[in-house]
Amino acid sequence: RGVIEKLDYLKELGVDVIWMSPCYKSPNDDNGYDISDYRAIMDEFGTMEDFREMLEGIHSRDMKLLMDLVVNHTSDEHRWFVESRSSKDNPYRDYYIWRDPKDGKEPNNWTSYFSGPAWQYDEKTGQYYLHLFSKKQPDLNWENETVRREVYDMMKFWLGIGCDGFRMDVASLYSKTPGLPDGKGTTGLIGHEYYQNGPRIHEFLREMNREVLSKYDVITVGEAPCTSVEDAIKYTGFDRQELNMVFTFEHMDVDSDNGLKWTDKKPDLVELKRVFSKWQTGLNGVGWNSLYLNNHDQPRMVSRFGDDGKYWKESAKMLAVCLHMMQGTPYVYQGEEIGMKNMVFHNIEECNDIEAINAYKEYTSDGRIAPEDMMRYINRKGRDNARTPMQWNAEKNAGFTTGTPWLKTNPCYTEVNVAAQEEDPDSILNFYRKVIRLRKDYPIVVYGSYELLYPEHDKIYAYERILGQEKLLIVCNFAGEAMDLEIPAEFVEKSAKLLISNYPETKITDTLHLQPYEARVYHIEG
Ligand code: GLC
Repeated sequence: RGVIEKLDYLKELGVDVIWMSPCYKSPNDDNGYDISDYRAIMDEFGTMEDFREMLEGIHSRDMKLLMDLVVNHTSDEHRWFVESRSSKDNPYRDYYIWRDPKDGKEPNNWTSYFSGPAWQYDEKTGQYYLHLFSKKQPDLNWENETVRREVYDMMKFWLGIGCDGFRMDVASLYSKTPGLPDGKGTTGLIGHEYYQNGPRIHEFLREMNREVLSKYDVITVGEAPCTSVEDAIKYTGFDRQELNMVFTFEHMDVDSDNGLKWTDKKPDLVELKRVFSKWQTGLNGVGWNSLYLNNHDQPRMVSRFGDDGKYWKESAKMLAVCLHMMQGTPYVYQGEEIGMKNMVFHNIEECNDIEAINAYKEYTSDGRIAPEDMMRYINRKGRDNARTPMQWNAEKNAGFTTGTPWLKTNPCYTEVNVAAQEEDPDSILNFYRKVIRLRKDYPIVVYGSYELLYPEHDKIYAYERILGQEKLLIVCNFAGEAMDLEIPAEFVEKSAKLLISNYPETKITDTLHLQPYEARVYHIEG
């Protein structure tokens, strides 16, 4: 009902489509990504009637709703799994991936995204089941045609109610290599080469498209860990009949340490530009990008890529410009539009996220990472940073609830909240409204091709968008200090028009004098 209350707010922000995290029945081992009934709403969130009312409210405002489709796995409390684990000859046994022990141990050496082995032993039938995520998230067996039919029927159920498409959870992991061979390596995520973009994934998605998606007017985005541009062309290619977009993770790795997330390494801007640019040019004309710096699995972007202290406002706005002026569909994660910051978690007991809790245990128990270092990394990279209550106003719990929220409210709510920013014409919120409008007013933002300028500059991200004779110049200073930057002469010669900037307007000159975290967008008609 809280969402229903805020639909006008979303409409005014310029939102076209709402992607809602899972709201189905779930024991909440992984914040709703462990579903025990795909056709019911989680009690904490309301009823099916509430859901229908929300959907009606969304449609009457000319917006659309994307449901989160979580079908790589279910909850272990889902009826299918309860049946499946009850005996070896139960009709649901083959809905999941069961294997005999090998030499009295796990069937292979695969590890889980949430630490430890990807297998759980089940006393009752003396076999192991596969779980790429928590042991309460058993993987569905996509080789089984009946499972696929069940999934397609369930998708039709939600599309029949009127939902407008799906964000597909770990969509690149459905197909496992037959035989489930041992993975390479001995640390980190072992075995992924045998299920990321697995052998039948495109066949499955084309089947899903043929059976379900093609029969409705829908929008789809597949979450696709470890996917290259070449893979993304296969998923999103205009002639492929699979998905509209994928979420890539490559740009989320620019502050990892050799692939390890748990570090406090600062993001490398040159690398960030290289990765974005590769995707921008690689998909141009053949597929479609999704653009994000934030979601429920990532820390807050202003703390990660900007400055959540002195230049909080400037850097949050700069990041919005940098991302939204690229080619693709931009995603705004709740609270990003008011510059919500990372939380401070004092100890692991304050966290709720199973990934962080398990990683803390894994890395601190054998002394690989000291507990205080691990807490620092969790504060920097942990998913709970994104999951504290949305900050509506300066009242108790930031106006999110009069009850007890699942995580403490971020103390920054007294300053960072919607009510305060509604009042302030110069706020991050009002800036987001402008940035979002630009995409709608200037087709070049949607359709223009992309060209990176100064690839080696480690403080400035500058790029052009080009559509026929028309051009945009986007200049973003990622540093907390002033910078001079020489810009292509034609923007000065043709007296380019400033479309947006996060500082009071300044004149265009051959060399721009950029303020800390300044962003500007110039336009020439050609
Ligand atoms: C995806 C979701 C994440 C969840 C995981 C398992 O990565 O975005 O929140 O934990 O899949 O479903």
